[in-house]
Amino acid sequence: MKVAYVTTDHPAAEQDDEREIALAAWLGAGIEGSPVSWHDPRVDWSDFDAAVVRSAWDYIDRRDEFVAWAHRVESATRLFNPASVIEWNTDKTYLRTLGVPTVPTHWLVQGAEPGRDLPEWDEYVVKPAVSAGARDTIRTADRDAAAAHAAALLAEGRTVMVQPYIPSVEQEGELSLLYFGGRFSHAVRRHPMLSGVAETRENRATLRDPDDDQFALAERILAAAPPDLLYARVDLVRMPDGEPVLIELELTEPYLFLRDELAAPDLFAETLAEMLKG
Ligand SMILES: Nc1ncnc2c1ncn2[C@@H]1O[C@H](COP(=O)(O)OP(=O)(O)O)[C@@H](O)[C@H]1O
Ligand SMILES: [Mg+2]
Repeated sequence: MKVAYVTTDHPAAEQDDEREIALAAWLGAGIEGSPVSWHDPRVDWSDFDAAVVRSAWDYIDRRDEFVAWAHRVESATRLFNPASVIEWNTDKTYLRTLGVPTVPTHWLVQGAEPGRDLPEWDEYVVKPAVSAGARDTIRTADRDAAAAHAAALLAEGRTVMVQPYIPSVEQEGELSLLYFGGRFSHAVRRHPMLSGVAETRENRATLRDPDDDQFALAERILAAAPPDLLYARVDLVRMPDGEPVLIELELTEPYLFLRDELAAPDLFAETLAEMLKG
């Protein structure tokens, strides 16, 4: 089996330090993986039995092109996750459709006036609906500053999400649960990105068992998500009243924390091998 490990030639992919570990595990499962940049025009995707989206992290600035690419690739080979999932999942508007508890969000679409009906919160997070790695995302206690950032993003034609800052990300932390083929693999506690402390390789993540309520919610979220996912990452935070809620369901190009759990790379590879046979 020949599989494209979809990355990019953009410097963003230099952050991908789990590529070799994934490719080694794939090889152990009989899969010959090759890193390929998603926008390399010389690639014939039908040369591969499948393409797996991994560190294609420059798609953020060219989402429409990326979604069109995904559909094109899918007409030539199998794509994981599927193009329809990528189209749905690259815009956080999907959070409104899942029917599960999420971080309270004030949505602003084109034509909205951000200053008018912004709720009163102690601290705001303002982020675009299409983003990754907290790109173009701010945290502020100043309601006017929150409205101004929202207005600037709207002016660029983007959908905007305004949320209360959830302080538990700095104590308990954000919990990411990793799944392969719908099977739970492992979970990690994440570094708080808007805390003012820079993320490093050392503080990025710690392996952690989910609490029962977090596990139950993650299972509910996966049941509400599209089927047949090679990988899924469910990112949860706890509200001040203790309720776990979804902050992001990453089905497009999640970092998988393969270095944090010894068994994870093989589970990833075995799941891919199974899906390629099926
Ligand atoms: N409402 C919030 N309260 C606290 N921290 C937040 C909030 N929204 C985002 N963050 C921080 O910013 C990071 C990125 O936000 P997220 O919604 O996951 O978007 P993305 O990862 O796609 O950029 C989160 O992992 C978290 O650390
Ligand atoms: Mg995130």
